Amino acid sequence: MSKNILVISGSPKKDGNTSLLIEWFKQGAVVNGARIEIISAASLKCKVNGCTSCRMCQKNKEYECVIKDDVTKVLKKMLEVDVIVMATPLYFFGPSAQLKIVFDRMFSLYKWDNDAGSMQTPLKGKTFIVIASAFEDVGLDALEKPFVLTAEYTGMKFESLLIPNAGVSGAIKANNKAHQKAIAFGKKVG
Ligand SMILES: Cc1cc2nc3c(=O)[nH]c(=O)nc-3n(C[C@H](O)[C@H](O)[C@H](O)COP(=O)(O)O)c2cc1C
Repeated sequence: MSKNILVISGSPKKDGNTSLLIEWFKQGAVVNGARIEIISAASLKCKVNGCTSCRMCQKNKEYECVIKDDVTKVLKKMLEVDVIVMATPLYFFGPSAQLKIVFDRMFSLYKWDNDAGSMQTPLKGKTFIVIASAFEDVGLDALEKPFVLTAEYTGMKFESLLIPNAGVSGAIKANNKAHQKAIAFGKKVG
């Protein structure tokens, strides 16, 4: 069965390394019939700078953020797809702030029962993917860690495509090895 994939790009650069990696990933994924939607986190109109920890989402039955803006729509889409991809440049050994703003608001996609020590989420069973690149070859493992742990915690399958030594924005265009790797990764996921 063909997969539905949602890609959230955390790069502010329209023609940078993250965009190219997403494009190559898409080229591979569509070979197997996957449907892909790509959303730029930088272009989302947000009412708040990330999760406000109001915890109102924990009082509702629905798995949705009570703050209604563009991020709410992205969160809704996450529940509709099979695969959630978070793509980001390495910014000081972590993901970009643009992506983190979306990531933290995924809080509303969980329901915790602290008394029972239990948690429920409709994310369970999906695939969670990180695509990231860095100028150097230090830090992508640190970036990957919160995504790995979130996938484990949530019951999502985890995969990643990490490209060190990618150079400055756009330089990855000349990196044939990264190109081939991203297409192969897309084929595998799609
Ligand atoms: C604010 C900022 C922080 C960065 N921090 C790092 C870093 O800690 N380590 C690194 O190797 N590259 C770092 N880089 C380089 C980018 O991660 C790298 O060039 C990436 O491939 C750019 O992707 P993009 O073109 O999609 O933005 C940084 C770049 C910026 C603008």
